[in-house]
Amino acid sequence: MQDRYQRTIEYVRISVTDRCNLRCRYCMPEQGVEKMCHADILRFDEILRVIRALSALGVRKVRLTGGEPLVRKGILDLIREIRRIQGIEVISLTTNGVLLPEMAAGLRAAGLDSVNVSLDSLDEETFSFLTRRPLLSRVEEGLRALEEAGFQDTKINCVPLAGVNEADVLKLAELARVKPLNVRYIELMPVGCAYEAGLRGMPMAEVRRRLQEAFGAFSPVRPGVSLRGPAEYVQPAGFAGKLGFIDAMGHKFCQTCNRVRLTAGGFLKLCLHAGTGLDVRELLRAGVDDRELLAALSHAVYNKPAEHHFLEPGEKQDSRYMYQVGG
Ligand code: 5AD
Ligand code: SF4
Repeated sequence: MQDRYQRTIEYVRISVTDRCNLRCRYCMPEQGVEKMCHADILRFDEILRVIRALSALGVRKVRLTGGEPLVRKGILDLIREIRRIQGIEVISLTTNGVLLPEMAAGLRAAGLDSVNVSLDSLDEETFSFLTRRPLLSRVEEGLRALEEAGFQDTKINCVPLAGVNEADVLKLAELARVKPLNVRYIELMPVGCAYEAGLRGMPMAEVRRRLQEAFGAFSPVRPGVSLRGPAEYVQPAGFAGKLGFIDAMGHKFCQTCNRVRLTAGGFLKLCLHAGTGLDVRELLRAGVDDRELLAALSHAVYNKPAEHHFLEPGEKQDSRYMYQVGG
C-alpha cells in the first residue's frame, strides 16, 4: 500500500524478542537490562496474524530481528509458518551469528531466504570489548555454516566506531573481496546507549575514503536484491561481493522508505526514530476481528511520518532501545 507521501510500504521488520546473548556497548548496558515479561511479548499466532494482515496490504518482505532472534524458542516454526503466507516473497533474518553454527542448516530448511550478520570486528580483543562476550570464533563459524547451508546474498553489518574498530573497516572489506558477501557500514545512530557509552561513529565519508585508498576508486552499482533498502552499494575492481554504506544520519532515504516495524511487544512503529505508531497487541488482545485489524493497520501505515529528525536539537526521540525495536 502507499502512505500519504506516496511511498510504497512493502517491508516489515519484526522484533521477535528483546533478549540477546551479547551485550554490545552501543546497544545494551552490561547490567540492569530490563527484560519484558513473557506475556508482554507477542505470541507466534499473534505475529502471524499481523503478517497476514500486512501482506493483504501489500507487504512482500519480512525480516526477523531482535534482540537476537535466534534465542527465541521455536523460531524455526515461525519461519515455516511465515513461508506459508501468501504474498510474502522474501523472509530474512538479522542475527549476531552466535547461534548460526548449529542453526544455519535448520533455518535454510525452514525456508529462510537470507541472513544479515552483525559483526563489528574480526579482532578477538575488539570483538570481546565491544560485545562484552568472547564469542568471535562462534560468529566466524556461523558465517561458514551459512555458506555450507547454501545461503546466498549474506550481508555483514558493521558499525565503524572512532578509535575502536577502525582497522576492521578494511579487514571486513577483505571478506567481500574474496567471497560473494556484502559488507555494509552503518553510521552509528544516537539511540540506545551509544553516546552514553562514550562511543562515536566514524564519519561515513572517512570510511569511504579509507576503502578507496586501499581498494581503488569505486562508484555506485545497482544492488542485486529484490527490494530497495537504504544502503548504497559499490563494487571495487576485483571484488567478489559488494560494499554498502548506510548514512543513517542524513535524510537521504526517508523519501523512499518502504518499511514499518513491529516491536517485540507488538507496537507497530512507523519510523525507526519516532514514537508514533499503533499498539497492535492491545488491539489483538481486545479481540478485534480481521476487518478491524486491517483497517487499523492500514490507517496507521498511511500516516507514516515524512522523515526523521536526528539532526534537530531537542527533537523528541523514541525512548525505546534498539534491542526492543530491532534496528
Ligand atoms: N547505531 C547504528 N546501528 C546500530 N545497531 C544497533 N544499535 C545501533 C546504533 N546505535 C545495529 C546493530 C545491528 C543492527 C540491527 O543495528 O549493529 O547490525
Ligand atoms: Fe545483541 Fe544486536 Fe544489541 Fe549487540 S547490537 S547487544 S547483538 S541486539
